[in-house]
Amino acid sequence: MEDVGSTILVVDFGAQYAQLIARRVREAHVYSEIVSRETPVADLLARRPAGIIFSGGPKSVHVEGAPSIDPSIYGAGVPILGICYGAQLVAQQLGGQVARTDQGEYGRTTLDLTGRPSALFQELPATQDVWMSHGDSITAAPPGFTVTAQTAAVPVAALEDSARQIYGVQFHPEVAHTARGQEILKHFLYDVCGCRPTWTRVSIIEHAVEAIRAQVGASRLLCGLSGGVDSSVAAALVHKAVGDQLTCVYVDTGLMRAGESEQVEDTFRRQFGVDLVHAKAADRFLEALDGVDDPERKRKAIGETFIRVFEEVATDYEDAGFLVQGTLYPDVIESGTKDAAKIKSHHNVGGLPEDMQFELVEPLRNLFKDEVRAVGEELGLPEEIVWRQPFPGPGLAVRIVGTVTPERLEILRQADAIVVEEIKKAGLHRELWQAFAVLIAVRTVGVMGDERTYAYPIVIRAVTSDDAMTADWARLPYELLDRLSSRIINEVPGVNRVAFDITAKPPGTIEWE
Ligand code: XMP
Repeated sequence: MEDVGSTILVVDFGAQYAQLIARRVREAHVYSEIVSRETPVADLLARRPAGIIFSGGPKSVHVEGAPSIDPSIYGAGVPILGICYGAQLVAQQLGGQVARTDQGEYGRTTLDLTGRPSALFQELPATQDVWMSHGDSITAAPPGFTVTAQTAAVPVAALEDSARQIYGVQFHPEVAHTARGQEILKHFLYDVCGCRPTWTRVSIIEHAVEAIRAQVGASRLLCGLSGGVDSSVAAALVHKAVGDQLTCVYVDTGLMRAGESEQVEDTFRRQFGVDLVHAKAADRFLEALDGVDDPERKRKAIGETFIRVFEEVATDYEDAGFLVQGTLYPDVIESGTKDAAKIKSHHNVGGLPEDMQFELVEPLRNLFKDEVRAVGEELGLPEEIVWRQPFPGPGLAVRIVGTVTPERLEILRQADAIVVEEIKKAGLHRELWQAFAVLIAVRTVGVMGDERTYAYPIVIRAVTSDDAMTADWARLPYELLDRLSSRIINEVPGVNRVAFDITAKPPGTIEWE
């Protein structure tokens, strides 16, 4: 990727901070990658970065085992920007002072420029709001450094040695609450590092296309298409690169939401002219799920059936040497770190049968989700796919508590379609991480007309989240809830009650199973 112009390396001192910085750099159209702080300096320099950013981190430079970096990096002649913890590390390693002053700052803080000229703060107001989150403070800048900003509480809020091109800011320019933060980052990228804004959706596509062609030559590729944004964008990119060498396999589990299979057909077969195998296997999935009510057993039954169906299709393509996967950059970063506790055995439909002899093609491996969406839009994928909310591989089966039958699937599918439609109409679709219906395994008494009913309740689940690790229940407007309740009960036979799930994650999970 180095040939895209210039690369910024973000040294990871605390994962969420590093990812956000890398995303902001890319939003400024400069390619960035996250690197471990343990990477030897020689390896970092071998990448010929235009600049290096030290991320913030959760620790104090004074605690035992505090993350650090080989100080020889400061002599390499590559511009460095330390952010928060990163700035403290710069100050400490180069002979300044970082103290536990009890003068921490959290949240919005007023930053005052000291008036010393600084490339970072060109054309910015003398006073501005920034976002702070630190306990320790830099109390003295290292020799050779100039203090360029301060706050009421801390004397060194930004510092620099412009001769050596080493900069530090105590605040977080990468967060939206720092109103001019992106401008400050851009000054570092363009004016200090000399980067050019070459990382655009068009250049991302050009590079991906080139890389795919170089990797696969004239071989045939298979792609497990789920209808989700990642596999769809991966398939569309590969199709752009190698056209008919690609065959997409859409395993139709019968557990998809209303209209999804048609959407996949329309988009890939008709709009893009992709060679698409639509493996209609609903009966086999229903058979595998017959009488199964345990969530983990459901996932296992679906996963196994999926692999079997996929393998059967693949035997018709014995010449295929490559399998396309929609792995994203955050997965790549995270698989390099300690594993978070597994709460559910997540099965990704499209998952690779382990004994299949394919080489992987992963065209989204370097991309964040927002870039994947931008590329999808650029390639002409429809909005429904590009902005599709996450949907579990096992589909509606894990939103039916208890056994899955064709009748219960139909109830849920209809109720879910109403939820999706109303959420979109209310303009909330992109704001919410997920909004969907759940069918539970009890029936309750109701009255409709003069008749007593004994039917299922539908539960509405709507959450906000950044990464699905934690989530909050969405405060949907009462009028919307009212419309959902009355439409579901009136339009979906077999439902006589609607409830709204007000559980955060933790302690709940987003899905009900
Ligand atoms: P939970 O329910 O664990 O879900 O809070 C977190 C996110 O993961 C999705 N999810 C799955 N995705 N296979 C998947 O591909 C699965 O088995 C699965 N289970 C949950 C869920 O929709 C949410 O976005």
